[in-house]
Amino acid sequence: MRTLAGWLLLILSLSCVTAPEERKGNRMARTVDTARDPHSYSRPHEVAVEHLDLRLDLDFERQVMRGTAHFKLDRRADSDQVVLDIIGLEIHSVTRGAGEGSAEPASYQIGESRPVLGSPLSIELTEDSDWVEVEYSTSPEAEALQWLTPEQTTDKKAPFLLTQSQPALARTWIPCQDTPSVRMTYTAEVTVPQGLMALMSAENPVTVAEDGRYRFKMLQPIPSYLIALAAGVLEFRELGSRSGVYAEPSVVEKAAWEFADTEQMIDAAERLYGPYLWERYDMIVLPSSFPYGGMENPRLTFLTPTILAGDRSLVSLVAHELAHSWSGNLVTNANWNDFWLNEGVTSYIEQRIMEELFGRDVEAMLAALALDGLVKKVDELGRDHLDTRLQLDLEGRDPDSKVSEIVYDKGQFLLRALEQAVGRAEWDRFLRGYFKAFAFQSVTTGQFMAYLEEHLGSTSAEALREVNAQQWVHGTGLPENCPRIESEDLTQVEKSRRAVLATRKVDDLNPEGWMTQHWLIFLGGLSGEIDPPLMEALDARFDLSESGNSEITALWSQLAISSWYEPAFPRLERFLEEQGRRKFLKPLYEELVKTPEGREFAARVYRVARPRYHPISQRTIDEIMNWGEMEASKR
Ligand code: BES
Ligand code: ZN
Repeated sequence: MRTLAGWLLLILSLSCVTAPEERKGNRMARTVDTARDPHSYSRPHEVAVEHLDLRLDLDFERQVMRGTAHFKLDRRADSDQVVLDIIGLEIHSVTRGAGEGSAEPASYQIGESRPVLGSPLSIELTEDSDWVEVEYSTSPEAEALQWLTPEQTTDKKAPFLLTQSQPALARTWIPCQDTPSVRMTYTAEVTVPQGLMALMSAENPVTVAEDGRYRFKMLQPIPSYLIALAAGVLEFRELGSRSGVYAEPSVVEKAAWEFADTEQMIDAAERLYGPYLWERYDMIVLPSSFPYGGMENPRLTFLTPTILAGDRSLVSLVAHELAHSWSGNLVTNANWNDFWLNEGVTSYIEQRIMEELFGRDVEAMLAALALDGLVKKVDELGRDHLDTRLQLDLEGRDPDSKVSEIVYDKGQFLLRALEQAVGRAEWDRFLRGYFKAFAFQSVTTGQFMAYLEEHLGSTSAEALREVNAQQWVHGTGLPENCPRIESEDLTQVEKSRRAVLATRKVDDLNPEGWMTQHWLIFLGGLSGEIDPPLMEALDARFDLSESGNSEITALWSQLAISSWYEPAFPRLERFLEEQGRRKFLKPLYEELVKTPEGREFAARVYRVARPRYHPISQRTIDEIMNWGEMEASKR
């Protein structure tokens, strides 16, 4: 329950229109009203969906799903319509009713289609309609879906389907109120070809169903972007009493070894932030075209195989997706302008989990990498750029296009600053209270700020004022009070790098005891300073062109392109062809197109690799390569 003071603060913070102000070189801008979601046509304050019963039939040959979506409605205000979001769906029929057994056809309109948003599907309701049902088919172009042929999977024996709904793509495979401000429970029945296993962000099977028919239940209310489905030949391995991993048969053992610490991560997160409320935490390792590192689909995190380094050095990504079980899935950003409430808070919790399991030194290296990326991003955008604010203004833009280090790492460093200012014990108490107060709800940045004032304003008023969270959230650039990272390892790595750059020799470099993150910090600081002879010297001694670690390969390839060190190109070519993780692809293609020779190389590789990428990665790389025009000019 909110107190009167809380409400007043909330109203104040929502209506607060900060005047443009110059302060320490940081620009303050108008705060955006996030009470409305600019990326959905739905009007949940009038009618909101409450429960979805979904039936899906998967047709791998035609690459379409045929579906029936039955929605239970919550009539919140006078209105004779429910509005759903759709992109590219073929609508076969719409029915409505009041109570079960009272179905009648409903008239509906499909509005004009706009980029990113798609179309509104407006369904007429009678006064007492409390459900609607839509029969539809998806398009083979549905951007959330990737239909893989057997050859495109790891084991090459059977087809595979994977979905990616976040941020606004659920509407390409389910007609829905596609806004994180609406939550629903769901049940589903999914039919797949015999021999395949289907899994969702729900209670999941562990064995193959003879008839290819699977039933799912998600009893906790979730927003549409967390509805997910994967289908393929899959096996399950248990990791702990409430965790396990699914993967293709040839991958599952390796995955189980890599993620052995998962149960401990759940325990650590619970000690810090309160009970894990989703019962089980399972993961699926997908084929390598999955466009993200991970996706926090509830009860079933989706993961790229590129984190299977063979030495558990990239498991902070599991900590990250697990952390979303609190920040994101339990307490959800009200819309994508508030993305930092999902990703920034999660990045902070990820660090805390890593510190619990592996200690301060490991955590410091991860934090140093994050800070380094953040500083580079602010430099790249310019410290006056409005997209360097934590609360973004994405109206009229694709919400997926502006997800950067800003929401992740400026977000996590604000939380670090707050932690340091008020003390860890007080700050942990605050976060536990926040997750409890807003469990299974969506929050705006304004609500977060009001809650902060309300709960820390009295005990730590002075400390809060000093942090000046308003400046972090609505101001551009990186505030001067951004915490610094200090650690002995970091100092050592930086010293080694300076020595190498000064002497242009690697003979004295002694990376004994270095983890992946030490290498990443070492290599990250070489950009702009390195030339082919030095690349060659490093390669000769440490075989970096043949590293089996995807993060190192990505960074090394980046250096190879910018310094034009050709011996690394065969590995780069394979890397671009064998995986479709956008975080790796984007900077590499961007670096390549800077020179004519690079562009030529990129075009040759992309022509082969493109059909294997997920539509999400295709769209990003198409833009970088100007692919539409390139292909048109060839004709
Ligand atoms: N929720 C994100 C993935 C995402 C972000 C999907 C934006 C769609 C739009 C996920 O939790 C995530 O942050 N993944 C990161 C890994 C993380 C360790 C930074 C990724 O995919 O690289
Ligand atoms: Zn995340």
